[in-house]
Amino acid sequence: MTTSDLPVGFPDVETLTRMANAALQEFENGFGGHAPAQAPNSIPGVSAGFPAGPSGFAGNPVPPDPRPHAQYGGPTGSHPAAPLPSGPAPQGVIPKVASPESLGLPGDETLRLLLGGTSAPGAQIPSEVHGTSESPFYFLNTPTGSAGPDVFKTADRPSVPGSIAAPFDVNAVRGDFPILNQSVNGKPLIWLDNAATTQKPRQVIERLKEFYERENSNVHRAAHELAARSTDAYEAAREKVRRFLNARSTNEIVWVRGATEAINLVAQSWGRANVKSGDEIIVSNLEHHANIVPWQFLAQEKGATIKVIPVNDAGELLLEEFGKLLGPKTKLVAVTQVSNALGTVNPVQQIAAMAHAAGAKILVDGAQSVSHMPVDVQSIGADWFVFSGHKVFGPTGIGVLYGREELLNDTPPWQGGGNMIQDVTFEKTLFHKAPGRFEAGTGNIADAVGLGAAIDYVTRLGMPNIAFWEHQLLHYGTHLLKDIPGLRLVGTAAEKAGVLSFVLEGFKTEEVGALLNKEGIAVRSGHHCAQPILRRLGLEATVRPSLALYNTCSDLDALASALHRLVSSRGPRNVTVSNWPL
Ligand SMILES: Cc1ncc(COP(=O)(O)O)c(C=O)c1O
Repeated sequence: MTTSDLPVGFPDVETLTRMANAALQEFENGFGGHAPAQAPNSIPGVSAGFPAGPSGFAGNPVPPDPRPHAQYGGPTGSHPAAPLPSGPAPQGVIPKVASPESLGLPGDETLRLLLGGTSAPGAQIPSEVHGTSESPFYFLNTPTGSAGPDVFKTADRPSVPGSIAAPFDVNAVRGDFPILNQSVNGKPLIWLDNAATTQKPRQVIERLKEFYERENSNVHRAAHELAARSTDAYEAAREKVRRFLNARSTNEIVWVRGATEAINLVAQSWGRANVKSGDEIIVSNLEHHANIVPWQFLAQEKGATIKVIPVNDAGELLLEEFGKLLGPKTKLVAVTQVSNALGTVNPVQQIAAMAHAAGAKILVDGAQSVSHMPVDVQSIGADWFVFSGHKVFGPTGIGVLYGREELLNDTPPWQGGGNMIQDVTFEKTLFHKAPGRFEAGTGNIADAVGLGAAIDYVTRLGMPNIAFWEHQLLHYGTHLLKDIPGLRLVGTAAEKAGVLSFVLEGFKTEEVGALLNKEGIAVRSGHHCAQPILRRLGLEATVRPSLALYNTCSDLDALASALHRLVSSRGPRNVTVSNWPL
């Protein structure tokens, strides 16, 4: 850039350079004259809980920037920074940084103007995106005559105990995920579809390779070396899950295909044996279809009734109403710990205590919680807890049903076959105790071992560290999205994790998803297999960016920047994807 490129009234390039250097010096002094103790892009060691919620940013004119690169100067991606959120630092966490305006320098917005008006040169709104009734992806095409605008018909803050043991280096973490190091549509891939599935670190990929190269054998049965290796690996993974959930015994950890299968298992085994005509099953308005439909099957078969815990407009469960639903007929309460559509974190410990006080059992769906926060099934008081390996950086096709040991042993098996029996005659079969009684046939051995590696991975990073990092990202992303004209955040609970659902006035959700895809940004748009909660909020679909430990503030900058340009280019009439004006 030369001086002649600059608008009238601005200092020349030399002066700007001097001012920038002075600002940098001041920036360093903002740390009290000391270099930060942590590595670039790391969370400072913090021993207490979380900063205030999103509203905690309000009212402070000199905001700290939770973006890792802004705090410590380290790059986190190819996207320059977007405007800073206004408001104070999360308490005790972010070092104070002087604002450029307070030094008489051009501010973020001014510099943005100077540099051409956009913050993310790599994030251009595409000149042409396929129309949405004809999606470029065959699996998204809406069958003619189907209801609603949604084309995704079939796809589907926690309080953190303990102290943060080590800094969280997001750049090092990203380096562990080879899939993130690629371009999509000519742009660096930004993976914000983590609620659907998470990416896999090298450690998991390599563990799977090692298993198939050195250990592969069926488990438990043969007296040879490879059977011993694979059995050891499989059962060691079960122990890792036990520790991860703080279950009492590995007998409480049943391997299943995923959360869906785990819920069906409970419904079809315990449910069929224990739920009778006239009984009541309580689910919440926030549930994923996987925690609704299996209970409907059971209720239909048994003549039981399903009752629903309502939510307020923020997407928070109304616990008083829940209390009113509980009664002597309540057999079971089935609730999610974190809503996949809104990100609401439910007070499952309290819900479990209320259910137990009414004499009911409780199943907690942890599909969306285990990757975001530490989980302790004993302190929750869950009778069952389910999750899927693929949502916590493990392979697909493997998941976990935790159940209290005596409850599992009191429950008849679901599927019959090999592995689950002690003795078979044509007259009578004796079953193993849990977990074997629920593991008929050959299990998904390699992927269980891979899930063990994923648990090692997040355990080494520290779940409290991960929770803290994502909490910062969620606050940051919330503030960026709130600034976008016409954008309505869907799900504004005080306690949230991982999800930034929204709708954008004038755009169909799938249009937004398709446009973001052109920017290399992967988000989910649709009903997220949670139609009841979206309909409760007057919607059929949302756009759902969802976070994981490897996301950065730069990812969110790129998202917000693309959305800003999408909105500002809309013009006097609504622009559809096919007549996008660039
Ligand atoms: C809250 C919740 N429960 C259950 C499931 C089902 O998980 P899976 O499809 O891995 O069985 C999901 C998947 O998105 C979910 O988000």
